[in-house]
Amino acid sequence: MENKILEIKNQALDEINKASDLKSLDEVKNKFLSRNSQFNNLKKGLKDIEPSKRPKIGALLNQISSELSKLIEEKNDIFYKKELSEKLLKEKIDITLDGNYIPQGHVHPLTKTINEIVDIFNYLGFSLIKPELSPEVELEKYNFDLLNVPKEHPARDVQDTFYCENMDSVVLRSQTSNAQARQMVNSKPPIKIISPGRVYRNESVSARKNNLFHQIEGLYVDKNVNMAQLKGVLNEFIRLYFGSSRPTRYRSSFFPFTEPSVEIDVQCIMCHGKGCSVCSGSGWLEILGAGIVDPNVLEAVGIDSNTYSGFAFGMGVERLTMLKYAIDDIRLFFSDDVRFLRQSV
Ligand code: PHE
Repeated sequence: MENKILEIKNQALDEINKASDLKSLDEVKNKFLSRNSQFNNLKKGLKDIEPSKRPKIGALLNQISSELSKLIEEKNDIFYKKELSEKLLKEKIDITLDGNYIPQGHVHPLTKTINEIVDIFNYLGFSLIKPELSPEVELEKYNFDLLNVPKEHPARDVQDTFYCENMDSVVLRSQTSNAQARQMVNSKPPIKIISPGRVYRNESVSARKNNLFHQIEGLYVDKNVNMAQLKGVLNEFIRLYFGSSRPTRYRSSFFPFTEPSVEIDVQCIMCHGKGCSVCSGSGWLEILGAGIVDPNVLEAVGIDSNTYSGFAFGMGVERLTMLKYAIDDIRLFFSDDVRFLRQSV
């Protein structure tokens, strides 16, 4: 019996010696020390051995199996460390290598400007109009009639406004002022909204003009709204949008739906007021029209003009973007040149 045990021990020692990695070592461990191993079978067989010999043989078996376990454990430790360091070496990441290029989308410069302007007016207490009150395909009623634009006004001409074929009174809105009319018809003062969106004009395309462009309309109707407040709001807007250093001027103007009316010009960024092709030599660029809402408009939308007054303004988004970033051709916004778009973040 003892010889048999020693024979198995030697065989185990030999195989432990030969094991060259974790896997083969594990196989050896299973073969000699697991529940079904030869050693264990011998232990199970102890009960059949003559009782006087049992303790000695039992002790021998225990001693050998713990000796083998210890050896395997030590060797396991060495293999584990070796394999781990090999693995780490293989999986080493070279952080100096170039990363994979992931193309990134960009916010269109006009969207960026609209977001900025909306934020500024939110801060000044204006809320964004509900989209359904600011449609691009519009009835003449909201684009012109309710805004006090007479039937024979040149803006209504097909040379200036796109009409929908076979639908006489339906136009592509020529101004975001339609949103003013809809907002006033649909709600009671106090009203303090802004409405960004696309507008369309039947114009020949040039560096300064496109037949699709964007406006942002603002409307404030309440008791005692006056010109001083209009100037206060617009001056603050210009200061926040451009920074205080941009020269600005107010010119009196005319719109059918405001009285009095003004236009605001900002000094041309291209020529700093000297005059160039972008500003047609004047040194100034108009960015918005504004004024006190004409009492006729208030009455037409059902607001008592004796109790309430209001101011309104409409600004050109392309112009404002061109002025801020020195873009000299409006057509770039509508081109598909990704190099242009990539500049914006
Ligand atoms: N709707 C005018 C335009 O397109 C701008 C404007 C809006 C003027 C509101 C006064 C008040 O030119």
